[in-house]
Amino acid sequence: MKKSKNTPFILLVILLGVIFTYGILISLGASEESETYPFPEDPLKGRKLFVSKGCIKCHSIWGVGDPLGPDLAQMSKKQNLLQLAGLLWSHSPKMIEIMQERGVTRPTFTPQEMGDLMGYVYYFNYFDQPGNFIEGEKLFLEKGCAECHFVGENGGKDKISLDDYGKYISPSFLATGLWNHSPEILSGMNRQGLKQPEFKGQELAHLLAYLRGAAINQNGEIIYAEPGSPKRGQDIFKQNKCNMCHAVWDKGGRKASDLGRRELRLPLTEIAGKLWSHSGHMWEEMKKIGLSFPVFSPKEMADLISFLYFIQFYDEEGDPKEGKKLFREKTCIFCHALEGEGENVGPDLGESEAHFSPIFLASAMWNHAVVMEDMLEEKDLAWPRFSGNEMRDLVSYIKKATEISK
Ligand code: HEC
Ligand code: HEC
Ligand code: HEC
Ligand code: HEC
Repeated sequence: MKKSKNTPFILLVILLGVIFTYGILISLGASEESETYPFPEDPLKGRKLFVSKGCIKCHSIWGVGDPLGPDLAQMSKKQNLLQLAGLLWSHSPKMIEIMQERGVTRPTFTPQEMGDLMGYVYYFNYFDQPGNFIEGEKLFLEKGCAECHFVGENGGKDKISLDDYGKYISPSFLATGLWNHSPEILSGMNRQGLKQPEFKGQELAHLLAYLRGAAINQNGEIIYAEPGSPKRGQDIFKQNKCNMCHAVWDKGGRKASDLGRRELRLPLTEIAGKLWSHSGHMWEEMKKIGLSFPVFSPKEMADLISFLYFIQFYDEEGDPKEGKKLFREKTCIFCHALEGEGENVGPDLGESEAHFSPIFLASAMWNHAVVMEDMLEEKDLAWPRFSGNEMRDLVSYIKKATEISK
């Protein structure tokens, strides 16, 4: 009897629980969706492929290697995944020709390999030149650090030593120290009537060069850091609720800028500089919505920064209407059916089992470059080159068309 009396109450609790959970699920929904494409686990993984697939036979990186093809670290424009895949594709007849002359076997790729390789090429500009000691010394004064800190001999009373930072080669440690202590540093600066200094361009790298040169590093210890994992960084981004304010390519919060549309494909120290420069503003905004200021380990910071760098590896959605035109113009329709149009020499792409992704398309296209070349020759057609956003639009069309047919 007792039980039945409590039943309405229990039902109410369950109901509230369900509503509550549902609310959480809805609010998480936006972030779940953004997991459409994977970010590289380890951007250096493609290094092996760059050698084993023969790229190194013709391409140099930062001047090292065979200069037959262009130096891939010094491409004039920053290219994302699909633009890189488009370039690779457009140049493939020429590459194949030279490869044959040189007796290099034409490599094929699994989608995983293509993703790793493009990730590696995308990664070349992540590390910047080492900073400059003299510049760094100036900045240490100009940015007001010397008000509260010292390095080496120039210690003052009541000042905090930064000697410990002399042993770090990677800027992610300094970036972490600055970020984690941002609330204390900023409150201190506030009290002294100082404004939060911004770090632009290579400034943070210069500052690190100064710390490394001037610090008393008692046991000569040197600590390197992992390059960072964009994939882990993506998790850290979500776990720390960065996506409550920032969207990434339209998915996520609207309180602050969409980070897909910010220029964050910059050297590590520049990204770290941006994080720091905005930390005061972000902290204010976090307080308003009841978030505490997140702190990171240097490894987490390296992961987070490499994720920010990799955001533009992908692109916003393309235009499927343009893509449909390209499907015809670029000769795909001679061999593939889609939406009931086209020939069946190759598989009907609407029935393709593969989960459709840009990386999958890039590897599939590369792998059948030879089949296509033969057909084009037979029909006396020119090699369909891709430029600008064409590859992106084509992907959007195929993705949309396959989704509809399923
Ligand atoms: C046999 C020589 C050779 C090999 C092997 C080779 N390439 Fe190339 N690659 C070239 C040449 C030559 C060009 C320039 C083509 C042109 O200008 O039409 C080029 C262009 C490119 C471009 C465009 C660069 C730009 O600035 O526009 C990319 C990206 C590229 N190759 C990536 C690769 C990758 C990745 C591999 C390994 C799978 C590879 N290449 C293997 C010779 C080669
Ligand atoms: C108004 C005083 C003040 C100014 C100005 C200031 N800091 Fe700090 N800084 C602090 C305080 C306080 C801490 C926290 C120290 C602690 O917890 O031991 C700190 C901590 C740090 C740390 C972490 C130290 C550690 O033990 O890991 C770094 C790195 C740092 N500051 C760098 C800088 C740099 C670079 C500048 C110049 C842009 C700067 N700070 C300007 C007060 C200041
Ligand atoms: C409470 C809201 C909020 C949260 C949470 C937040 N940010 Fe921000 N963020 C801002 C605001 C506001 C700015 C400055 C204006 C802008 O870019 O929208 C900013 C700026 C930035 C910028 C500079 C963008 C540029 O290129 O100018 C980066 C990078 C950034 N945030 C990364 C992060 C990361 C990483 C996290 C999670 C650790 C995070 N933010 C969490 C509000 C937030
Ligand atoms: C000359 C005929 C021909 C042309 C032109 C052609 N393909 Fe293919 N395609 C094939 C064949 C045959 C296959 C089956 C795999 C193979 O042999 O490599 C295939 C496989 C594919 C696959 C993999 C499908 C799966 O489910 O595994 C994709 C994606 C693809 N092609 C996209 C394209 C796109 C995009 C174009 C236009 C730029 C294109 N193809 C042009 C013949 C062609």
